[in-house]
Amino acid sequence: MAVLIKSLSYAHELIRKVLGPGERAVDATAGNGHDTIFLARLVEKEGRVWAFDIQEKAIKRVRERLEKEGLSRRVILLNKGHEEMATYVEGPIGAIMFNLGYLPGGDHSVVTRPDTTLAAVERGLNLLRPGGLMTLVIYTGHPGGAREGEAVINYCSSLPQRDYRVLVYRFLNQRNNPPFLLAIEKEG
Ligand SMILES: C[S@@+](CC[C@H](N)C(=O)[O-])C[C@H]1O[C@@H](n2cnc3c(N)ncnc32)[C@H](O)[C@@H]1O
Repeated sequence: MAVLIKSLSYAHELIRKVLGPGERAVDATAGNGHDTIFLARLVEKEGRVWAFDIQEKAIKRVRERLEKEGLSRRVILLNKGHEEMATYVEGPIGAIMFNLGYLPGGDHSVVTRPDTTLAAVERGLNLLRPGGLMTLVIYTGHPGGAREGEAVINYCSSLPQRDYRVLVYRFLNQRNNPPFLLAIEKEG
C-alpha cells in the first residue's frame, strides 16, 4: 500500500493520534455519516460527538446509520449550519472534522461556502482544547470550490504560529482535482 495515502485517510490517521475515549468531537459536515461514525467510535461510550448538516435528508440518513451501529447515544445530530457551532457545542473539543463541498449522491448545488466555512473554522478553533486538531478536506473541482479553498488557505496562513501549527497535505501531480487536506493543531 502507498505511504502517501488519500487526504481523507490521512485526516483519519491524524485524528486517531489525538482523539481518545471519553472526549468530545465535532463533525462539521455530517453528509453520509462516515466521519460521524469514525469519531463516535473513537470517543467510545463516555464521549460525545456533535454532527452538523444543513440538509435534513443527510441528518435523517446519519441517524439511521448511527442506530444501526448502536452509536446514537454518543452523537448529537443537528440540522443546523456549522457556523452556529458556538451555540450548540460545549468545549473543550479534541477534534473537529470538515469535509467540504457537496454531498456525494445528493444535490450538487448544496455546497459549503467560504463565509460560513470561515465562521465555523474560527468558532471551532476557539472550542479546541490545547493539543486538539481540526481537519478540513477541501475539494476544488466544483463551482466555487477553488475560491473556498483559497479563502481557507488564506485564513489559516495568518493564524499565529505560537498558537497553531497549520499543515497542507496535497498531491501536486494527480488528475481530476483530488481533494487536499488542511490540518490545524492547537498548541498544547
Ligand atoms: C462532502 S459532504 C460531507 C461528507 C461526509 N463527511 C461523509 O462522511 O459522508 C458536505 C456536506 O456539508 C453540508 N453542508 C453544506 N453547508 C453546510 C453548513 N453551513 N453547515 C453544515 N453542513 C453543511 C452539505 O449538506 C453536505 O452534506
